[in-house]
Amino acid sequence: MERELTGLREIIGDCDKEIVQALKTRMECIEGIIQYKRNHGLLVLQPEQEKKQLDRICKEVEGTPFGEEIIHIFERIMENSRKIQAKALFDRNILLIGFMGAGKSTVSACLGKMLAMETIEMDRFIEEKEGMKISQIFDVHGEEYFRNCESNTLIELRSKNHAVISCGGGVPLRPHNVELMKKNGYVIWLTAKPEAILERVKDSTERPLLNGHMNVSYISSLMESRREKYSAAADLIIDTTGKEIVEICEELLQKLSAMQKNKKEDE
Ligand code: S3P
Repeated sequence: MERELTGLREIIGDCDKEIVQALKTRMECIEGIIQYKRNHGLLVLQPEQEKKQLDRICKEVEGTPFGEEIIHIFERIMENSRKIQAKALFDRNILLIGFMGAGKSTVSACLGKMLAMETIEMDRFIEEKEGMKISQIFDVHGEEYFRNCESNTLIELRSKNHAVISCGGGVPLRPHNVELMKKNGYVIWLTAKPEAILERVKDSTERPLLNGHMNVSYISSLMESRREKYSAAADLIIDTTGKEIVEICEELLQKLSAMQKNKKEDE
């Protein structure tokens, strides 16, 4: 009995060795792919390719007792490949700025998934820390207090080095915040037409600055008054009006890669 157990454990040990070896080879190929994508300006994520791979694995395990578990493991392997690729292609944080309703949170969630990167929503971070909703913070402590929370959050987030950070719409208004953001990563400004913004935020009660002002002319003039500040902070601009989320993320990654490439060539 004892000998049988030892024998099985030995077989597992050998399997693990083979798995490690196979993973090493797989990851070396990933490095090759990174190099190729970099040289040819290709996207990090190619969902059709991942789907093909997963379909192949599904066929392979069809009818076997542990099919579901094996597929689960492969999904994690692919997620890690994306992470390795994204880390190699984008060596810094990605910070999203822009007006309320420009798409920062949605784009951040999608990018996080595409690149297997951690995502941080500054407003949620502050709400958790303060134990209340943004609108309550404005009511109880006032806007200045909230702006200080934003600046402190940026200081705290300096320790992050590979995250997608969705900043509150007012973060770039303070020059010191802009300095911190620029040091902490690539700053991407998401814009949209005021009509599109209104459409996206019109049912929200969580945006104290827009309470009682849910109309295009107010949104336009507040956006206009912030334009210069956003522009000064931004490394890249993306217009999100009328575009699908995946399309926006792909445009962002394409532009970010091109910008990095140009920077490296200038150095
Ligand atoms: C604000 C934008 C909000 C939130 C707060 C103030 C602003 O964030 O931080 O209501 O000054 O533009 P979102 O842009 O994520 O809605």
